Amino acid sequence: MRQAKYDIGLIGLGVMGRNLILNIAESGFSAYGLDLDGNKVASLLEEVQNTAIINASADTKTFVEALSRPRKLILLVPAGPPVDTVIEGLLPYLEKGDIIIDGGNSHYKDTDRRESSLRSKGIYFMGTGISGGAQGARQGPCIMPGGPKIAYASIKPILEAVAADFKGEPCVAYLGPKSAGNYVKMVHNGIEYGLMQLTSEIYDLLKKSGNFSQLELHKLFDSYNKGRLRSFLIEITANILKQKDDKTTGYLVDMILDKAKQKGTGKWTSQNAMDLGIPVPTIDIAVSMRQLSALRSETMKSNNPHPKQTTKHLDKEALKKGAEAALYFGFMLTYAQGFHLMTAASKAYGYDLNMKTIAKIWRAGCIIKGALLEDLAKAFDETSNLPHLLMDKAFAAKIMATVPATRDMVILGIENGIPLPGLGSALTYFDGFSADRLPLNLIQAQRDYFGSHTYERTDRDGIFHTDWDN
Ligand code: 6PG
Repeated sequence: MRQAKYDIGLIGLGVMGRNLILNIAESGFSAYGLDLDGNKVASLLEEVQNTAIINASADTKTFVEALSRPRKLILLVPAGPPVDTVIEGLLPYLEKGDIIIDGGNSHYKDTDRRESSLRSKGIYFMGTGISGGAQGARQGPCIMPGGPKIAYASIKPILEAVAADFKGEPCVAYLGPKSAGNYVKMVHNGIEYGLMQLTSEIYDLLKKSGNFSQLELHKLFDSYNKGRLRSFLIEITANILKQKDDKTTGYLVDMILDKAKQKGTGKWTSQNAMDLGIPVPTIDIAVSMRQLSALRSETMKSNNPHPKQTTKHLDKEALKKGAEAALYFGFMLTYAQGFHLMTAASKAYGYDLNMKTIAKIWRAGCIIKGALLEDLAKAFDETSNLPHLLMDKAFAAKIMATVPATRDMVILGIENGIPLPGLGSALTYFDGFSADRLPLNLIQAQRDYFGSHTYERTDRDGIFHTDWDN
């Protein structure tokens, strides 16, 4: 016997949607799925034959009518035009007060547009970041909802039951109005790009400068995952490194083409950071390296052979320790850049974001979860309006302790011709913030020289221009 009315609807029964609907049902809520692909509907229904609280259809009207009022619908469809198409298809059947929750990686500007257009029709639209991939959707993702606060009350019990749990606290919280949820998810992904780039650089450095075998590399990342770097990304890296290839005798990672793809969220983070005037160099370079990897051609490589030089090898134990410290440094600085950006966006877009809440809900369920988030939550707990994590004493002390090792690793990379642009950018970002004086005085002088753009002085107030001698 199926339900009369269902608590929530889910549109898009791909892997994520299917896993989320199973998770919702397991959390005690009834859910109705919609997918225009009848095969996906049939396959879900076959899997859940004996689960009375799950049903599905390929017909929009049947789907909407099966939901209890106000209708709560989660969209899990590809970001971009498909979201608008699905909303258009739903509108004839919706009523005032119904709530659409867009769970995809939508651009925050699209979310603002959709939210305001649906508000004029009396429909609530909540741009909601969901992180954790297919596994997270099934076992408990991190959920980042934003939009009309009044609508959040109706979906809160379901989202809290479905979300990942960190020591009894659900990894979901209302983040702010308009596109706050999608914005925070975008920056989450920007940080994700940075952390992935840093991890790949350290793997490269260890492999090429340390003569580590694949098994040793696996064990090393596994040991990193037991310390302060404990995180989802380090854990899966350790697992990836030990995976054998089923088509050859080697390891799978060595057989994977070194061209990384991207769907755009990292790039959006960088683009928006430029607009807001906030430097996020480690995220920028992570995007650029994916672009560079995709552009390299065999002709380019053969025309520009990598200059052969003697590889400087460090003592294995020193390298193990140095690489761990450098990775920790890079991770910390990437989070600092992401949180700095969210602080600026919160003001610029009126999101009124709470950084401690964000750090807390990122502690489980999401791709960038890790032990580090505990420290960040603590820093924002002590100073709720902390403008930058480098201004937190405990955070700064941890950074300072890892600077020498990071410098050693960057130098080793340069000496051996191993590109470490993520780590280098994090170090330069730190050096830039902490230098007594930057050479930007010279840039101001040049601007004034060729364009009378004026400059300020170190010894008195005012705006100055000089007729430079030539
Ligand atoms: C997550 C991931 C998820 C997705 C990325 C991949 O939080 O679950 O971030 O959103 O895996 O969008 O992004 P790229 O294809 O751009 O690497």
